[in-house]
Amino acid sequence: MANSKGLELLRAAAPTISVGVITANLLSLGSEIALLERTGVKLAHVDVMDGCFCPMMTVGPPFIRAIKTSLLKDVHLMIEEPLEKVADYVAAGADVITIHVEACSHVHRALQKLGTLTNVNEADRGIVRGVALNPGTPLEALEPLLDDLEYILLLAVNPGWGGQKYIRSTTARIGRVQRMIADAGKNIILGVDGGVTKENIAEVAATGADLIVTGSAVFDGKAPEANARFMLQAVAAVQSRQ
Ligand code: DX5
Ligand code: ZN
Repeated sequence: MANSKGLELLRAAAPTISVGVITANLLSLGSEIALLERTGVKLAHVDVMDGCFCPMMTVGPPFIRAIKTSLLKDVHLMIEEPLEKVADYVAAGADVITIHVEACSHVHRALQKLGTLTNVNEADRGIVRGVALNPGTPLEALEPLLDDLEYILLLAVNPGWGGQKYIRSTTARIGRVQRMIADAGKNIILGVDGGVTKENIAEVAATGADLIVTGSAVFDGKAPEANARFMLQAVAAVQSRQ
């Protein structure tokens, strides 16, 4: 739903990070997410992989429903043909739903459907509708969709697993999508996902991306809270210089 409260929440938080929680210890995810809540992180990014579109399988709606948190649930669907499945993810408490153009025969119809669904966390928050593009997908795929989405997510790795290396051509793609959004005069959040580490987050933030997804660099098995604070501070430092 255009200009929904959910979009306003993201715009107010941007630039910021969305933390990929699938790389955490899933058996203690409640306490892992509680650590994030103390840091100022606003979004929990849940990578849903189906073993078809994506070689790995992760979690589905029951898992998302089980996450009790004040963070916005940012659900990245790396699944084949999400049209008939998005309602289940919305019912499970998603605030942001991102589908892949490569996985969806009727991506426009799926976005329209998302626009009719009610956010179960807070009805007037709406569902922030996102479209993701793999690193090899032409950006032109976005142009016919700009009226029906609030969020664009550029993958900087190929869908599969955490801990891959950031593909450098993503940086130029971010700039091209920023120009596309500006030329169209749209209020669209732009995110980047994959391969963001403590070492390169400042460089990625300097692109001006609104949302930076980071998973394994936060949940490194050692210090997730300190890592999340580091990432937030890195983004804030870049913003203050721009
Ligand atoms: C790619 C996923 C990403 C990725 C993020 O398959 O969409 O969200 O797991 O993990 P890191 O930050 O470890 O690259
Ligand atoms: Zn993701």
